[in-house]
Amino acid sequence: MYRSRLGTDLSNITLDYVSSIDDDSEIIQFDILGSQAHVLMLQENKIISKNDAKKILNALEILKKEKFDSFSEAEDIHELIESLVIKKAGIASGGKMHTARSRNDQVALDIRMKIRNDINILCTCLLDTIEVLVSLAKNHQKTIMPLYTHLQQAQAGVFSHYLLAHADVLFRDFERLYDAYGRVNQSPLGAGPVGGTSIPIDRHSTAEMLGFDGIVENSIDATSTRDFVAEFVATVAILMTNLSKISEDFVLWSTSEFSFIELADEFTSPSSIMPQKKNPDILELTRGKTAEIIGNLTAILSTIKGLSTGYGRDLQQIKSSIWSTSKISISALLILKSILLTLRVNEKQMKKATDSSYLIALDIAEKLVLKEIPFRITHKIAGSLVQQAYISKKSLNKLTTDEIKRSVQGTKVDPKVVSDIIMSTTIISSLKDRISFGSSGYGEQKRMIKDRIKKTNDYRTKITKRENELSYALEKLEEKITILIK
Ligand code: ARG
Repeated sequence: MYRSRLGTDLSNITLDYVSSIDDDSEIIQFDILGSQAHVLMLQENKIISKNDAKKILNALEILKKEKFDSFSEAEDIHELIESLVIKKAGIASGGKMHTARSRNDQVALDIRMKIRNDINILCTCLLDTIEVLVSLAKNHQKTIMPLYTHLQQAQAGVFSHYLLAHADVLFRDFERLYDAYGRVNQSPLGAGPVGGTSIPIDRHSTAEMLGFDGIVENSIDATSTRDFVAEFVATVAILMTNLSKISEDFVLWSTSEFSFIELADEFTSPSSIMPQKKNPDILELTRGKTAEIIGNLTAILSTIKGLSTGYGRDLQQIKSSIWSTSKISISALLILKSILLTLRVNEKQMKKATDSSYLIALDIAEKLVLKEIPFRITHKIAGSLVQQAYISKKSLNKLTTDEIKRSVQGTKVDPKVVSDIIMSTTIISSLKDRISFGSSGYGEQKRMIKDRIKKTNDYRTKITKRENELSYALEKLEEKITILIK
């Protein structure tokens, strides 16, 4: 439709190479809405007549309900929709739709509308998953488990503490996405190809009609930058690395060696040959798909880093990376939520793992510190206790008086004090004593759970408000259209 300057048409193979029609299926609805707001604005500012606007809007309303055939001569959805509008409304009216607009501001608009929707969906999915983590934590405040560093048992903890850690991570993912929305939800419409237009359009009015918080003022910036895309995908890439980490823990914990958890059958796969297998494929795929999203981010950053200022067709290529990022991350969150809801927690096994080790060593050292012995000395004593217990293959409370005496050799510490502390220290006592803010202590679990429930509710209110603002704007737009075409 646009090739009057050029001698020949594109061959089929070149058209296929150039076309973004397939990727554009994700933005059809946004493109139509954008065109409707634009046409209303043109009419309200007397740039086109009411009759022309009516015809165009009518055609667009019909197109909203139509299924698009991806086979087309058009290079992209913008060209296809314009040609269909002209077909339906006639060139005299339909030919005016693209007044004071370019595909460059148009595609930037569509991408921003798509991403802001995806952000809202992701934010809700995040809150849903956090809610499940917190409610699971509520049930596991007394479920004792080892906490690891270097994948070696480090301290005794409780499962709720672990779950709440991931809830906090996901809260940060939420906050990053929530903030990014503010930069995404700015309208580029009316920026034209790059330098604006001589036609007296009203960019603020289209921005408002489409539910934007503001406009990307500078028309060069509005049409040629995609930092908002990179920000979105980078944020989701971070989110996915967080989901990937949980997945890795669960893959490990569902092995027969760990047996801390069992995944519900619907989140596992069998083997084609080994009948006994129950493989955690779904979680493995979250790890695998995270790599794909990191790849998407790399593709986007590599595309924009060398682009000279102003729209370049390279930018067309990043769309599929955005769509895939949204699709994967939304599914990953939905699936993780269901996995958590159906998870069987093997409390006995978690506890057993703590019994067979010397996880109270630090607690013993800390109790000695309360007797005003320098920590460096208490660390040495506790280390020696563990070494002797380990060599004679017994637990700390089975150490003999002589062995305890050996542990305090060279210090002024009374072995009787050490012995009393050993006898009074258990994993349960140490979890009661763990009082530092944010620790595994029993008391802290209660406080953190209460706090996170409140935080989830506050964030829900925020996201609902945002979604309502958006649907309110779009409803008003629809009303305006209905009134005009009536
Ligand atoms: N299909 C293009 C894209 O997705 C739309 C913009 C085309 N603009 C242009 N000047 N060729 O980016």
